[in-house]
Parts: sequence; C-alpha cells; structure tokens
Amino acid sequence: MRAWMLPANATGFDQLRLRELEQPRPGPGEVLVRLRAWSLNYRDLMVAAGKYMGGGLQADAIPLSDGAGEIAGVGAGVADLKEGDRVQTSFFPHWTDGAPVTHVALGDGRAPGVLAEYVVLPATGVVPMAPSLSFAEAACLPCAGVTAWNALYEGPRALLPGMRVLVLGTGGVSTLTLAIAKAGGCEVFATSSQDAKLAKMRNWGADRTVNYRTTPEWGAWAKELGGVDKVVEVGGAGTAEQSMAALRTHGELAFIGVLEPEGGPNPRGLMMSAATMRGIFVGSTAMARRLNAAVEVNGIRPMIGRSFAFTQAPDAYAHAAGPDSFGKTVIELG
Ligand SMILES: NC(=O)c1ccc[n+]([C@@H]2O[C@H](COP(=O)([O-])OP(=O)(O)OC[C@H]3O[C@@H](n4cnc5c(N)ncnc54)[C@H](OP(=O)(O)O)[C@@H]3O)[C@@H](O)[C@H]2O)c1
Repeated sequence: MRAWMLPANATGFDQLRLRELEQPRPGPGEVLVRLRAWSLNYRDLMVAAGKYMGGGLQADAIPLSDGAGEIAGVGAGVADLKEGDRVQTSFFPHWTDGAPVTHVALGDGRAPGVLAEYVVLPATGVVPMAPSLSFAEAACLPCAGVTAWNALYEGPRALLPGMRVLVLGTGGVSTLTLAIAKAGGCEVFATSSQDAKLAKMRNWGADRTVNYRTTPEWGAWAKELGGVDKVVEVGGAGTAEQSMAALRTHGELAFIGVLEPEGGPNPRGLMMSAATMRGIFVGSTAMARRLNAAVEVNGIRPMIGRSFAFTQAPDAYAHAAGPDSFGKTVIELG
C-alpha cells in the first residue's frame, strides 16, 4: 500500500515522502480500514514542524488523525462491524466514553497515523459515518467536528436554542461550530482576519461578523451587541482576554486552541460575569456517535474549502498553512 511518511525529527511538511509499505493485517479486536478521504487539522502542521506537545517525532511516522473509508477486514472477536461498512476514525481510539482515559491520539508518532491507503485500528476506535455524508465530509469530523460538538454540548453548560456562540477565525473547528450551533437554533458571531472570509461565514449562516485585525477590541464589540453565552476559543492565551470580554453572565469559554499561544489573560473577567472556562481535548468515540446522529438528523455539512488528490498531500498541507484556507482542507483518493 501507499502511505505518506514524515521522518524522525521532521521540521516541516516539505519532508513528507510517499512510500510503499506492507498492508497491515487486523489482529483480534481490530479492523482494517481502506481509507478514501482524509482531512487536515492545525495539529498536523505542528506535528510536521516538530512542535506538537512539546516535541518532534521520535521515529519515522505516518501522519494525520482524521480519515474515512470502508472496513476491508475484521479481526477475531469483532462482531459489530463488517466488510464494506463506512466508518470514520477516532482521534483518541481508546477513549470510548466517559472521562478521558488516555491521551494517545492517532498521527502524532505515538499511535498510527492514517495518511495511508490502509490502517489497522481497534474496532472500538472507529465510528460509523453519518449515512448522508461523503467520505470527504465524514473525514472532517474526527478532530474538528468532535471538538466543536464537545465544546457546545458535552459540558455542564450545554447549548440551548436561542443562545449565542462566538467563533474565532474561519478554520476547521470554527466553521464546524458554526454549522452545529446553527442547527441547534443558536445565533453565531464570527471573527476573521479577512472580510472576504466573513462574507463566506455569513453565507454559511453567521449572524454577526467582525474583522479581528481592524477591530482588535472584538470582545467589547460582542458585548455591546449583548454578549455571547459561549466562546469556542481556538486562539488560546493570546485571545482569551477578548473572549472573556465577550461573555454574558454565566457564559462559558471553551478553551481549545493554540493559534495565539502567547499572552496572559487576567481571569478576573470570568469572575465579573460568573462565567466558567472549560478545557477541551477533542472527545470520545461516544461523543463522535452523538455528533453523527445530530449531523444526520439536521443535515449538517462540514465546510470543505479545498480538496486535493492523495498524491498531492504536501500541496494540501501548504494550502492549510496558507492565508487562503477556509474551513476544512481535505485529501481524497483519486
Ligand atoms: N484542544 C483540542 O481538542 C483541539 C482540537 C482541535 C483544534 N485545536 C486547536 O484549535 C486551533 C484551531 O484548529 P483548526 O484545526 O480549526 O485550525 P485551522 O483550520 O488551521 O484554522 C486556521 C484559522 O485560524 C484562524 N486564526 C489564526 N490566528 C487567529 C487569531 N489570532 N484569532 C482568530 N483566528 C485566528 C485563521 O482564520 P482567518 O483566516 O479567518 O483569520 C485561520 O484561517 C488550533 O490551535 C488547534 O491546535 C484544539
């Protein structure tokens, strides 16, 4: 089979190389998945740059956590999946439900990556696709979709119809949050560095938009409009102060990202609005199943900005890292 690989101590996606590897075989409790589509997350750029979770790859590795395809074989003892079933991967293949039990995630060198034609995974680590989605659309959900779903619905302050949500920028997590929150009957505020992307967000349903470059006090902008109940904070420490300023009384800041890792927000902002901050690390396979049920019932579609062929994987990375990326960047088997 063909697989894209990064070398040990990789420092950039330009070091991706297409290799011929032996096709893996499923052992007891495992499944073989023939992948048909993949999606990129910001994390994959960090893994390729050797900057993910404080370190580089210890050995050559297949990258990426997110893919969708068909079951091509099952190991002994697997009863609930069969050849031909359409499935998506799980970011944390061993976190099935409840509280997080492990931080071993696909595609960062500690667990197999999925940017290959075939991958073996634990049967509990794949999730049936929402039937109405294409492979490319389903491949958008394992990391960004589950993160958005967790932020909106899995915490103690779950979203209710009529609530307001603020999303930062127009990447994968933010556009999926927009789609899921609109399906839940909520009002969505969105920020971007580019007015053209804000226009796209309005086309996809965003109610209020602001350019965070030309309006650096966008927290006050949101508060003047009445504030928001939830901020899906993909910026990080560098944007959290504005996010706190945007919150209504009893709101929630879902702390997710590292796009602006530097900064030191004063948490006093939470005190003044009796708000809470909750750390999010993607989610479990049970959350992915609940997301997929909501996707199916509500006709939620991930926003795919661009699609690349499998042989063009480095071009997909370059696009995802560049200023024109919007929503999800996907890779599809030709
Ligand atoms: N904790 C978790 O479980 C978890 C899960 C998924 C992702 N994440 C993190 O969440 C972040 C987003 O991930 P992603 O995959 O959605 O990223 P992505 O698709 O690569 O998003 C990139 C977009 O982020 C926006 N952006 C960059 N700097 C920004 C800033 N200072 N303020 C607001 N927006 C900014 C830009 O939007 P514009 O071009 O519109 O300005 C850019 O296009 C990353 O830090 C990622 O590591 C964490």
